[in-house]
Amino acid sequence: MKTILLFMLVVAMMPLAPGASDDAVSNASGSVLTTGQGHPIFDNNNSLTVGERGPTLLQDIEFIEKIANFDRERIPERVVHAKGAGAFGYFQVYEPMTNYTKAKFLQDPDQKTPVFVRFSTVAGGRGSADTVRDVRGFATKFYTEEGNYDIVGNDLPVFFIRDAIKFPDLVHAVKAEPHNNIPSSSTGHNNFWDFISQTPESTHMLTWVFSDRGTPASYRMMEGFGVNTYVWVNSEGQAVYVKYHWKPALGVKNFDHQNAYRIAGEDPDYLVRDLWDAIERGESVEYELYVQMMNISEELNQTFDPLDDTKTWPEDQFPLMPVGKMVLDRNPDNFFTQVEQAAFCPANLVPGIELSADKMLQGRVFSYADTQRYRLGVNFKDLPTNRSLATVANNQRDGAMQTKIFNGSINFAPSSQGGLISATEAGVPYEPYVQGNITRETIYKTDDFSQARERYLAMNETEKEHLAGNLVADLKWVTKPEIQRLAIDNIIAQIDEGLAATISEALGL
Ligand code: HEM
Repeated sequence: MKTILLFMLVVAMMPLAPGASDDAVSNASGSVLTTGQGHPIFDNNNSLTVGERGPTLLQDIEFIEKIANFDRERIPERVVHAKGAGAFGYFQVYEPMTNYTKAKFLQDPDQKTPVFVRFSTVAGGRGSADTVRDVRGFATKFYTEEGNYDIVGNDLPVFFIRDAIKFPDLVHAVKAEPHNNIPSSSTGHNNFWDFISQTPESTHMLTWVFSDRGTPASYRMMEGFGVNTYVWVNSEGQAVYVKYHWKPALGVKNFDHQNAYRIAGEDPDYLVRDLWDAIERGESVEYELYVQMMNISEELNQTFDPLDDTKTWPEDQFPLMPVGKMVLDRNPDNFFTQVEQAAFCPANLVPGIELSADKMLQGRVFSYADTQRYRLGVNFKDLPTNRSLATVANNQRDGAMQTKIFNGSINFAPSSQGGLISATEAGVPYEPYVQGNITRETIYKTDDFSQARERYLAMNETEKEHLAGNLVADLKWVTKPEIQRLAIDNIIAQIDEGLAATISEALGL
């Protein structure tokens, strides 16, 4: 008896794995069916009616509860990145990163930090096909002892725009047109190419998304990039800019356009299934994390603006430094609770990692938690995948669907009766000096085309052919020739005149 009690006590005290829930419902086979209030249900197949042929009675509370819950099963899908797949695992640093950052999870090579990753497509809705041309999301949540740290990245190193104020326009232009809701998950339409033809900073991104990188063959064989620039700070208060890169252990593999679109029809869930099946088979899904670093004092000496997310940092000048490896080895138990309700945010930072002034990143920092308060409700931080493993203690209270029971009478600070106190900062704080006019201006080093041209010229002949073919496959859906022409003249001809000529000819312009 004593042993059983001790066992129960130990189990009760065990820390929860991320994504696990103390509210876990087993619904063991043979258990009695009940209402949400715990009342036994004696007949789950027949509604309560007047006589055997009806009508149904309003007093059929079992029927009403069941249907009312069903009516509310769907929550709003993410405004972008709606379709995705998630997996749990761990991250381990290779060497202490003490010289660069004081972040605790980046110090001890023996420490395994639990992680959750969600991969996603961006443009299509929750039921769309996985292999259509698109950017892919690669979002990682590290459950560290200092709270959750998220790298919310993509599979391509740059982005379409460099100022967050343009993001709603970009997404409106990418998604289905408002009058007819077509096309549901493709950029092949007037609005996208109209927007792009007026947005020269998107040129570099087009050379990525319209290469075969836009149709990855597996989430296990896809790179990840933080895209925006972050700041690492060590305990002396010394700061350095960093850009994140994830490299898959299996190497990068993409589909060509024909295969990607055939598979989109045959198995719309191809990428989700591929990840799930590999983990079920016990195969190792691994990525290495690298960073590029740049001294902040060097930022104005570059030919490009390092905080402009339409640019990559040349790897010969800013080499990739290995940081650690991530292994994904556990599938979720319940997709809705653990994956659909997952909430990532670039503002989920730990001491030693900070934000740069990158204007996209600054906007993202507001947007994610804001949409999550709407999509999931204000208490989304307590949902199983989002819950911090580090202790959470603050005076935030109440709100819809509050599940915590707060003890005591003090819900404010400061208080003469005790209560919570501020943490003491470990090490010297990083306090960047910022001065300037309050203004609405574009950064002065724009040069929207050089990196796009360099990328095109570095492609082999097959890659160039695929880029041209993939652009034609999309642009052929544009019904207004004047928009096709603008896209070719303003954007594609800036990459390469020959490429522009090939595409014009293929489109019969
Ligand atoms: C200012 C530009 C951007 C804004 C305003 C923005 C906003 C959003 C919003 C509102 C969501 C839905 C979040 C949710 O419902 O939980 C989202 C998802 C996402 N965004 Fe962005 N985004 C921006 C740019 C980017 C960039 C540049 C990247 C890549 C570095 C990125 C990567 C992602 C990923 C991976 C997700 C899916 C997260 C998940 O799996 O739940 N976004 N974004």
